[in-house]
Amino acid sequence: MKNLILEGFMGCGKSSAAEMLSKELSLELCDTDSMIEKAQKMTINEIFEKEGESAFRDMETALLEELGAKTGPCVISLGGGMPVRAENRALLKKLGTVIYLKAPLRVLVNRLEKEHDNRPMLRGYDLEERIGSLLKEREGAYLEAADFTIGVTEGMKIGDTVSCIRKACGL
Ligand code: S3P
Repeated sequence: MKNLILEGFMGCGKSSAAEMLSKELSLELCDTDSMIEKAQKMTINEIFEKEGESAFRDMETALLEELGAKTGPCVISLGGGMPVRAENRALLKKLGTVIYLKAPLRVLVNRLEKEHDNRPMLRGYDLEERIGSLLKEREGAYLEAADFTIGVTEGMKIGDTVSCIRKACGL
């Protein structure tokens, strides 16, 4: 069995779906943001503040390389910006089956409204404008990396998303 990798914009439900999926399939869970925070002993916010975005992106690429050397399948939840670098997309192709959780702008804005101050890529911007422009920039990368795309709609439960993922992957 290949690794199952969830990608998508912040707020699309990757982490929660990955957690449920890993429990249902009894697979190890790897959350790239948490792994980077643990390794650096800093929060993502602190990394952005102290080291800057490009250092964080290098950490993401290094982590993908490390994950490629791991034995045994796991469920991997990616930080929302991970597929933007072409180098990362090439690593993802080798790493496993990539599932894109595609949520429309309105759903993302609603979900991120309360917590966007905790997200360095969103803090200080007009939320809707910023999410809209990042989505536009990233959509091609998400689609290019994906083996399957799952539509996430308003009110959709995490369990529904997980069922769609399992169906798409024949699991
Ligand atoms: C980012 C998404 C975040 C985290 C960092 C940058 C992005 O992960 O990696 O704040 O560029 O979209 P989540 O998508 O898990 O929130």
